[in-house]
Amino acid sequence: MSDFGYLEKLDKVFESVRKKTDFEPRVGLVLGSGLGEFAKEINVSFELPYSEIEGFPVSTVPGHEGRFIFGKLGDTPIVCMKGRVHYYEGYAVSDVVLPIRLMVKLGIKTLFLTNAAGGLKDGMSAGDLMLITDHISVFAPNPLIGPNDSKIGPRFPDMTEVYDLKIRERILELAYENDIPLETGVYCQLTGPTYETPAEIRMLKSLGVDAVGMSTVVEAISARHMGVKVCGISCISNLAAGLSKTPLSHEEVQAAADEAAPRFTRLVSEVIKSL
Ligand code: HPA
Repeated sequence: MSDFGYLEKLDKVFESVRKKTDFEPRVGLVLGSGLGEFAKEINVSFELPYSEIEGFPVSTVPGHEGRFIFGKLGDTPIVCMKGRVHYYEGYAVSDVVLPIRLMVKLGIKTLFLTNAAGGLKDGMSAGDLMLITDHISVFAPNPLIGPNDSKIGPRFPDMTEVYDLKIRERILELAYENDIPLETGVYCQLTGPTYETPAEIRMLKSLGVDAVGMSTVVEAISARHMGVKVCGISCISNLAAGLSKTPLSHEEVQAAADEAAPRFTRLVSEVIKSL
């Protein structure tokens, strides 16, 4: 990127949303593949399909329906992204994180990221939930490459604690109180769209990766850049390549998300109501 074009784009999409709603969310929630059913929990005030926002990236993947849902969960005003765009769809990474920057401009103070991911950690099985404790970003494009506007965030943001420690502690407590098993671990974003080879999974495992996917990290980085707190949960939709006998399929990802959905919904609702 050679200019500040993304800032103008951000202003434009912000104006476009503000023409339609003055809702001020406190929490932003991004729903991963197959986890869209969660949106039913929300006491909806307003829905906005991405296609109605001028200049907004629109997902091309089946099952990644794209809309913002504004409403309340308990007393918490929330904006939920049902569907996100991915780098592998061909969007510039600055477009992939545009919705995150938009939600920050709309007022969110906490970003809750969710995804479907392949599990690497010993003992994991499909359908498990994993609290993200940290990430590895080096295989994904960094969303902050390009000119930096210090009004948005610092040139060299600290990444010591991307996933807020206090929120992580609360999530672990709420999981325990609600009898919901919860793994913890390090998430790594690769570009996709291919799933990994068994050799790549052995490499990632040796690097300390517990779950692998194609999203989340670039979103977490851009939110932290803007000073927003971040937390994240992966739904382990399959064991990563080579760790189980079956080849990976998008349908399997969807089926495991369906199986985990009731636990996921309960945990995420409890956490958001407490934010
Ligand atoms: N690898 C990468 N992304 C994924 C996987 C996987 O095994 N499962 C769901 N998203």
